[in-house]
Amino acid sequence: GVLTHRPMSESEHALVSEALGHPIQNVADAPEVGGFQGVVVQGRALPPLRSPVELEAPAPGEQPSPAGLMEHARNVAQARARVPHSDFPVGCVVTTTDGHAVAGVNVEFDDWTRGLCAERSALALTLAYGLSPAALFVSCVKVPGGTPCGACRQVIAELVPNGPIWIDRHETPPLRTSTQALLPDAFVGASLRHPTADR
Ligand code: THU
Repeated sequence: GVLTHRPMSESEHALVSEALGHPIQNVADAPEVGGFQGVVVQGRALPPLRSPVELEAPAPGEQPSPAGLMEHARNVAQARARVPHSDFPVGCVVTTTDGHAVAGVNVEFDDWTRGLCAERSALALTLAYGLSPAALFVSCVKVPGGTPCGACRQVIAELVPNGPIWIDRHETPPLRTSTQALLPDAFVGASLRHPTADR
């Protein structure tokens, strides 16, 4: 048997079947297994987290609907942020120009200076997938007034210069802001580039 912490996607299912050399049957909902519970945080079962390719993102050229993507940013923060030092989970969903969505969380280490912010984790992962960031959804799940740090603002200004940045405000609707508002007169480094360099 194979036990997973979330239902397998079709491609994962196919991969495991191939690795085992015979077809496998999904018994996640079998009563003897107890049903799939998702991730439990503080007694609350979070919905299963989807992989980047399964997330519903707006179609190219469409305006994103902040509610669902912000909910995912919250869930991913609660389930996956590694925050042993701050206990301050942050989640970020980056939507891409071709309609994908990629999530990131903050990851802390005993060497505090090595910690990674959710926004930069998500943006780096987006680039690693070969995708272009279009908009950001950031949730500091424990603090309604949470906002990106200075270092993230610089990176956002460079990678998502025109995209909206949505920030979770908990009980009130998410705040829609811009690179320009977060970091006016940002350094963009165009003067450093060789005229022929394209990245
Ligand atoms: N943090 C983020 O990941 N994004 C933000 O927008 C604000 C701060 C993280 C860094 C650190 O792991 C923790 O939150 C406390 O600063």
